[in-house]
Amino acid sequence: MPVIGDALRLDPKRPVQREMEFVRELGDVFEINIVGSKLIVVGGGAAAAEVFDESRFAKAVVPPVSNLRELAGDGLFTAFNREPAWAQAHNVLMPAFSQLSMRSYHDAMTQCVDELCDYWTDQAGRGPADISSDMNRLTLEVIGRTGFGYSFDSFDSERHEFVEAMTRVLSFASKAANDVPILREIFGWKALRQNPKDIALLKRSVDDVIAARRDGTTPRQDDLLQRMLEHPDPDTGGLLSDASIRNQVLTFLIAGHETTAGTLSFALHYLSLNPEMVDKARAEIEAVIGRDGAPIQFEQVAKLRYVRRIVDETLRLWPSGPAFFRKARADTTLSGYQLGKGATILVVLLALHRDRRLWGENAEEFDPDRFLPAAVRARPAHAYKPFGVGARACIGRQFALHEAVLALSRILMRFDVVPTPGYELSVSELLTIRPEKLRLHLRTR
Ligand code: HEM
Repeated sequence: MPVIGDALRLDPKRPVQREMEFVRELGDVFEINIVGSKLIVVGGGAAAAEVFDESRFAKAVVPPVSNLRELAGDGLFTAFNREPAWAQAHNVLMPAFSQLSMRSYHDAMTQCVDELCDYWTDQAGRGPADISSDMNRLTLEVIGRTGFGYSFDSFDSERHEFVEAMTRVLSFASKAANDVPILREIFGWKALRQNPKDIALLKRSVDDVIAARRDGTTPRQDDLLQRMLEHPDPDTGGLLSDASIRNQVLTFLIAGHETTAGTLSFALHYLSLNPEMVDKARAEIEAVIGRDGAPIQFEQVAKLRYVRRIVDETLRLWPSGPAFFRKARADTTLSGYQLGKGATILVVLLALHRDRRLWGENAEEFDPDRFLPAAVRARPAHAYKPFGVGARACIGRQFALHEAVLALSRILMRFDVVPTPGYELSVSELLTIRPEKLRLHLRTR
């Protein structure tokens, strides 16, 4: 339409799911025009392989991601590619996210999962559990304790003021990307006034955590915060500034909890509907860990291959970061179309991960065996990218996978997961995706 372009065809509440419908309607590559600004969308096929090529394309920091810069500044996720703070923090933090480093987080993760299970046991008789909310409690607690030695008391208290402020800030950043500014002034004035207060509270709280560690009020710990305080960047020899440490802490809280929580929630949804998968997973868990309910050891997590396939398949059907942005490094072409330097491209993973040419006619079905090693080898590498691509791919990949496999295995050891009759999956979006109003009965085994 004149002036507003395709704006009326978008769905501000479920933007990525709408893009997925467009991909089905229009094909692998198309352009949408939102009030004069043009966005290229890629949803599958060879175009995806092209746009993942780091020599021609790079991460683009545009709304809604750039809206988070107000909170996380040049933190890892929101930094522009050339900002020096990115390379410095990347160099300092990469070793802390290797598969081996997971050993130092394993016990805290196990403890948090057990606290969740105890919380569910205490709640028994109060009806089905609110899965997305409980998974958020778990993953926030895990990143808080493993990252910064901080507990949000997730299983004892009702909502924590920090968590409430963070939820509002994420919601604000996500909605701001789809709103018309003048309408926001009129209808969203309350959120507009609240947002700076929330951001100030979040920054203040994190500054307090950092200061307490620095002056010895809280003990030294082998975690991400200690690493940032002590380890210089091997390239420059410099330590991260306090502002950068604060930005990274906020970044991990944002990037490291809702994504894994969404993944766990979707996985539990599918497991509740597929008892034969639960049987198979339990047979594996019992073979690796035994039947006596002993805690899962660090080395055992990597042996839970079927549980891992459940996680992989969950991230295929519902990648919790459902889309990401790329930009052309120079004038180039994409699927034969001309692109100017800097052109922004949205990669809709949700569509790519269901591309029938890559995943077969049953692409919409949940089937963990798609991730058997031979099947993985038979597919092109660009078919599956739940953790992004290139230099700016997810630093927390191993962390998320370790946590998800550990948590799912422990939950299946302790509970039967029973669906609530009549539940139809609907998916809400707020930068990340999650099953909406998913409630499951958890019966102690
Ligand atoms: C299943 C869980 C997760 C998924 C699906 C996921 C997905 C992603 C994706 C797609 C990106 C790239 C975004 C882009 O290109 O704009 C990304 C980046 C990032 N993720 Fe994750 N993530 C997950 C868990 C985590 C965890 C647990 C952490 C931290 C503990 C984390 C920290 C980050 C950071 C810091 C970045 C930015 C990296 C950089 O640009 O250098 N993520 N993630």
